[in-house]
Amino acid sequence: MSMSESPKADGPVAGHLGGRCAVVTGGGRGLGRGITEALVAAGADVVVLARQPVPADLVEAAARHGRSIEGRQVDLHDAAALESVATELLVEREVDILVNNAGMQHRAPAAEFPLQAWDDVLAVNLRAVFQLCQLLGAPMLQRGRGSVVNIASLLTFQGGITVPAYAASKGAVGQLTKALCNEWAGRGVNVNAVAPGYMATDMNEALLADLDRLRAITERIPAGRWGTPEDIGGVVAFLCSPAAQYIHGQVIAVDGGWLAR
Ligand SMILES: NC(=O)c1ccc[n+]([C@@H]2O[C@H](COP(=O)([O-])OP(=O)(O)OC[C@H]3O[C@@H](n4cnc5c(N)ncnc54)[C@H](OP(=O)(O)O)[C@@H]3O)[C@@H](O)[C@H]2O)c1
Repeated sequence: MSMSESPKADGPVAGHLGGRCAVVTGGGRGLGRGITEALVAAGADVVVLARQPVPADLVEAAARHGRSIEGRQVDLHDAAALESVATELLVEREVDILVNNAGMQHRAPAAEFPLQAWDDVLAVNLRAVFQLCQLLGAPMLQRGRGSVVNIASLLTFQGGITVPAYAASKGAVGQLTKALCNEWAGRGVNVNAVAPGYMATDMNEALLADLDRLRAITERIPAGRWGTPEDIGGVVAFLCSPAAQYIHGQVIAVDGGWLAR
């Protein structure tokens, strides 16, 4: 469902983020698109940090809701570029919400896993998350108000197969979320994580193409289906809302019941 068709704009959460500015990494496609749409529907303006421009239809749909979505192109591998984009942004805008959504995957058996791929995955999935928490979290701490949501994974809890760097990075995202909570909860900044289950996005192209694996995974999900960007977006918007003010340091699985099985 696209934002233009979504009932969320008129739903019970509409306006609860009225006028807040949210930064969403990778917010133009995949799960990030669902997160951007949900934040806009709840009343936020969104700045997307990603390598590609924000799709025009997403920007136009937000404008129809009276909200803005702006893209700033940056490769999260590049710590210096990320610092300068974030610094420029903070000169122009007060950022109230940070959603560290962007992530990458590399699949190879652990014994042959290339170290370069290890470094790439850790740089995007973990270092950039911490760097943005530092850069955008510091002014939130000064104001005594803000929300950070990190996108974790089932592999924050489980080890996976042939994805050692991804599992290590996402395990660390869960621990980083708790570490920041312990320092920041008393200073008005909520830091939480959402752990999506199996979602049909570009990241899972290889799994979706393997029909035996696809069937086995789907049969194990109690809800009987893979998740959607909308399933994640609503939970992220909730975690950034006043209703979640006393939620700190949680890693919330949104997985159709996978971890309960
Ligand atoms: N799909 C799942 O089943 C699943 C499950 C659990 C957790 N997750 C997590 O959810 C998040 C989103 O995943 P997804 O499934 O939506 O993946 P996706 O469809 O592959 O999208 C990845 C997003 O990350 C951005 N990105 C990747 N590398 C980047 C880089 N070097 N610099 C800047 N942006 C970068 C991409 O934007 P550009 O290409 O424009 O740069 C894109 O928006 C990730 O953290 C992923 O680990 C996904």
